[in-house]
Amino acid sequence: MIVVTGGSGKVGRACVRDLMDHGYQVVSIDMLPPPGQSNPPRPTDVRFSRVDITDFGEAMAALSAIDERVAKVTGVVHLAAIPAPGQASNHRTFQTNMNSTYNIFEAARQLGIRNIVWASSETVFGIPYPKGPAYVPVDEEIERPETAYSLSKLLGEKMAEQFCRWDPELKIVDVRDEARRLRRLYFVFDIRHKLSRMPLNLLAQLPPFAEQHLSSVHRAAL
Ligand SMILES: NC(=O)c1ccc[n+]([C@@H]2O[C@H](COP(=O)([O-])OP(=O)(O)OC[C@H]3O[C@@H](n4cnc5c(N)ncnc54)[C@H](O)[C@@H]3O)[C@@H](O)[C@H]2O)c1
Repeated sequence: MIVVTGGSGKVGRACVRDLMDHGYQVVSIDMLPPPGQSNPPRPTDVRFSRVDITDFGEAMAALSAIDERVAKVTGVVHLAAIPAPGQASNHRTFQTNMNSTYNIFEAARQLGIRNIVWASSETVFGIPYPKGPAYVPVDEEIERPETAYSLSKLLGEKMAEQFCRWDPELKIVDVRDEARRLRRLYFVFDIRHKLSRMPLNLLAQLPPFAEQHLSSVHRAAL
């Protein structure tokens, strides 16, 4: 079973649908239900549980067991976040994104779930470049967070590296998502830890909408 955090969001909805279409058992955990979910849910509805992953106990519970809904989790796609600068105060954005990413990595580590894909951000390159790119062509070495949001993503990548150092069996793939402005031409950069080249090779097979592109990448990285 795959747990998708933030499965009610823009990228999360596409990711959950894509995984279900490819035969995965999926549960979405989010603070909000998916749009259009009926109560009680129809058999075809996305399986969803309301969880605040900034709370470590909730994150642990959600990855271990929720009645008949969550069991035997083998992988996590971690997308829940405050997803851009300015949507909340800087400290709230930083706190939410850091706590939730730590809680998911740590809960997965404690539960022996060794397969994690998570959404970093193209903003760690400095995009949209208020001061211009550090150099061109840009590459994965550039670390230029300009906001609390972007800093939370860069530090999440650093955290992923340390978790993988602690447990060499753990695989965490950072995807520097971009699904807004570039639509068909978006980037998938910086795939780390044992999958160094693979997702870039997927670009040729990608479907036409950015969220679906990202979903293909998230699924392939699992
Ligand atoms: N959309 C983009 O272009 C883009 C670009 C770069 C990175 N990203 C990253 O991709 C991920 C998804 O972005 P999105 O555009 O789908 O955002 P979104 O706001 O549509 O979805 C985020 C979801 O996370 C949930 N969430 C927030 N805090 C939570 C918490 N504490 N516990 C449980 N759920 C919580 C929200 O309810 C929401 O459904 C984010 O991590 C974002 O930073 C997105």
